Amino acid sequence: MSELLQKIDKDRLPGHIAIIMDGNGRWAQEQGQDRLFGHYHGVESVRDIVEGAAELGIGYLTLYAFSTENWDRPEDEVVGLMELLVSTIRKEAEVLHRNKIRLHVIGDMSMLPDYARAELNEALEMTAANTGLNLIMALSYSGRWELLNAVKKIAREVQDGRLEVEAISQETVQKYLCTSGFPDPELMIRTSGEYRISNFLLYQLAYAELYFTDVRWPDFRKNNLYEAIIDYQNRERRFGKTSAQLT
Ligand code: IPE
Ligand code: IPE
Ligand code: MG
Repeated sequence: MSELLQKIDKDRLPGHIAIIMDGNGRWAQEQGQDRLFGHYHGVESVRDIVEGAAELGIGYLTLYAFSTENWDRPEDEVVGLMELLVSTIRKEAEVLHRNKIRLHVIGDMSMLPDYARAELNEALEMTAANTGLNLIMALSYSGRWELLNAVKKIAREVQDGRLEVEAISQETVQKYLCTSGFPDPELMIRTSGEYRISNFLLYQLAYAELYFTDVRWPDFRKNNLYEAIIDYQNRERRFGKTSAQLT
């Protein structure tokens, strides 16, 4: 067993880990390769981290795979990423299923090409009854898109007389987010040395512990995940209270 793994307190694991998988392009370019080469290698990290999270017994793992802003990348990169997504889902769906992992997708699915949506739906259906790790892929996702969507849906409920303005609560807002039913992430990891949120889970990250590492996503492995969890476990989460109030 890895030394790092032994340092993790299994009783204080984050229930939900969210990851901004960044740095594929730079990783490839540093080796004189095409950006897509980096994305292909990034899939290896996804496999390893999903396995690591499942082994630990983490309840929810959200991976930011493609943002609404990423549609503005050069066409060949966008097409390459979509093809990679489809071929990966096709190859991995069975593996997820065997490991009792349930796949979820959050994001604007209407933006995806039909063939990608069809492949995803198949994997979602196949794994729908699984009770192990919940793997949430954020695809064509952005926090502002999600919030705008939620506001529109709530407004429609009010307009149609199904909801009183005074009855709108935090729970109402959460119910209309793509993540309704999932707990908020306790730990958010971003790889590749960038210190920003990039429109990821803007509402849900309110009290998440943020962890940044210079490691590029294609180099990120279980041991890096363990390091992040250990760092998380050494923090004091105060939620606005004083330290003395917590004990
Ligand atoms: C993350 O790596 C993957 C996606 C955003 C799809 P990048 O492609 O952003 O890699 P860098 O940040 O340019 O190195
Ligand atoms: C954020 O990475 C989105 C994903 C990892 C999918 P980006 O590389 O797109 O973010 P910015 O543009 O550097 O903020
Ligand atoms: Mg990037």
